[in-house]
Amino acid sequence: MSASILQCMDCGQQYPIDTVIYTCSHCGGLLDVCHDFDSLKDSITHDTFDARLGSLNAPYNSGVWRYKELIYPHVDETHIVSRPEGNTNLYHVPRLAQWAGIETLFLKHEGENPTGSFKDRGMTGGVTQARVLGMQRIACASTGNTSASLASYAAHGGLESIVFFQNKQIAFGKLAQAIAYGATCVQINADFDRNLELVREVADKLGIYVLNSINPFRLEGQKSIIFEILQQLRWQTPDWIVCPGGNLGNSSAFGKALQEAYTLGLIDRMPHLAIIQAEGANPLYQSFRHDFDEYAPMHAETIATAIKIGNPVNYPKAVRTIKWTDGVVEQVSDQEIMDAKALIDAQGIGCEPASACSLAGTRKLCEQGIIQANDTVVGILTGHVLKDPDATINYHSNSLPDITATYPNKLHQAEPSVEEISRILLNATEIAR
Ligand code: F0G
Repeated sequence: MSASILQCMDCGQQYPIDTVIYTCSHCGGLLDVCHDFDSLKDSITHDTFDARLGSLNAPYNSGVWRYKELIYPHVDETHIVSRPEGNTNLYHVPRLAQWAGIETLFLKHEGENPTGSFKDRGMTGGVTQARVLGMQRIACASTGNTSASLASYAAHGGLESIVFFQNKQIAFGKLAQAIAYGATCVQINADFDRNLELVREVADKLGIYVLNSINPFRLEGQKSIIFEILQQLRWQTPDWIVCPGGNLGNSSAFGKALQEAYTLGLIDRMPHLAIIQAEGANPLYQSFRHDFDEYAPMHAETIATAIKIGNPVNYPKAVRTIKWTDGVVEQVSDQEIMDAKALIDAQGIGCEPASACSLAGTRKLCEQGIIQANDTVVGILTGHVLKDPDATINYHSNSLPDITATYPNKLHQAEPSVEEISRILLNATEIAR
């Protein structure tokens, strides 16, 4: 018998691990991958994971598979598709901490993954499962990053990939990746939420494996963001973990990871999770304000195109995370997102707009007294600065509608004249002082 099963989070119905299924066929609930941790207790220790740090050998050279016992313990390793991902930096950022109103802030940069976003951690889990199941074709609807990751991992693992893009606002870096890595890309005259419905229907009809975050094997991989943060903090628990919320896959994975780490004794207390949504794409925030009694999908609009999502599929798992971690949901405006991004960028770290929710949200929660000045906070940066160059350049040239560049770094124009260039540089240095 396999040591892992799929289980419905609502009715508890179980399915064998090799079933091609995304939601419970009895009640429609979301599925969890559940592992038999009892039989693995002796190997799930700090020492096991610490001994693999710096490994040059697959699969433990991956920041996902280093925690294999927590991700997919009994998988046949010949099926694993890894680039390898993870092993991303945890930056100590005192100047940004001060701006946010706290003493200790770390930023975990998931944009340092092979395709430039955290999706690679989920995709290694999902594409590996596609191979376990013998699926030849994999697909997703995407605001961009999932598509880049799917296309890359499919190519790497010898599978075919298919991407459904929305009609508007695909960041160029992401579209370029999906096309370059060889995915069949279809731009559909619909938004992300509709495309997610469509990809599930088409995949069902044509026997294609869906790798959006409704797929629970994606979330198993994304749990490793939490395990890696804890390990980088020498298994000390921060007070808060703050992340952007779109389709709520990360939020769901983080809750499950923390719950498991706590139950297995890897940490001795739970941190709080704060999920930050853009004001124009905030269905979880609205629901949180009503104690999760109501939930209403919405039409989404935000400059942070990665999280332009109005009907997140993982809503029930995100609610569970907030309850497990005694967490909160906050919203931030596009102005706050772009200003926070400019400050992260100016540290030399950089991120795409959606990622900046973590810093903007931390500051807001601190102003409200929810995060205390002496709390240790880890913010998640989900995507690389190069993913959305238009947003960056338009901000700094102050040409974004309804957004003012509070921290502009203007592009100067000059004739090829030493005098003129010198004048510009002297002025620029004076302004910097
Ligand atoms: N940040 C970035 C950079 C993203 O690409 C996404 C999601 C999120 C945050 C939100 O994460 O869905 O786990 O709450 N991007 C998806 C995509 C939807 O298609 O690339 P979530």
